Amino acid sequence: MARKLAAGNWKMNGTRCALDELSALAKAHPDPSVDILICPPATLIRTAASLVDGGPLLIGGQDCHSQVSGAHTGDISADMLADAGATHVILGHSERREDHGESSDDVNAKARAAHASGLVAIVCVGESLAQREASNTLDIIGGQLASSLPDGCTAANTVIAYEPIWAIGTGKVPSTAQIDEVHDFIRARMIRRFGQAEGAAIPLLYGGSVKPDNAAEIFATDNVDGALVGGASLKAADFSPIIKALEGTV
Ligand code: PGA
Repeated sequence: MARKLAAGNWKMNGTRCALDELSALAKAHPDPSVDILICPPATLIRTAASLVDGGPLLIGGQDCHSQVSGAHTGDISADMLADAGATHVILGHSERREDHGESSDDVNAKARAAHASGLVAIVCVGESLAQREASNTLDIIGGQLASSLPDGCTAANTVIAYEPIWAIGTGKVPSTAQIDEVHDFIRARMIRRFGQAEGAAIPLLYGGSVKPDNAAEIFATDNVDGALVGGASLKAADFSPIIKALEGTV
């Protein structure tokens, strides 16, 4: 079984002074029983990776290009992230899908690049409120999984993050029954596509308004192996109780 994962997505937040939060987090969790990952803005990855080197924290990127190098102004390749010290990369976050028109095919190509560079791809899927209200959630998630995931996904190179778009940054959280339904569905799809051993072990994260006061309830849900946390990952004081809640399930 892969280790459970508490992943923080800083999005477009943080300059160098924010790295103090990493030191505070590392100090609060010297020997964690779950993996702790912070995905800061690209400008901070190298410094963050140097800072946490040899300690309990992992550093990841928030996106990568599908090509190794070339004429792609402003983009960063998976190789570059790995070279900067990243171990993971978030792909297909709904903000990338919306702000940058990323399709599941794009995400698939990026995931292949991430795997080729030795990075763990954290592939995000999730429905909009309109899709949920039209009872299309599982169809949408199934389609996103089928198209976004390349062949060859394993528990060592892939993490799935279920992030209902309507729960991101809104303070709205699905009921545990709703999370349970989607995570069970994703687990079944992983086993069907990647086989029992890998499919059962690929970590499934929930993301969307995870906070210290709701984390334990979410982590008690079947097939929830961790969280992808936005706002509450920016401060060690907020992220730390979420990490402890996840450790409580190990
Ligand atoms: P949030 O963001 O925790 O601020 O809702 C989650 C995410 O977008 O990964």
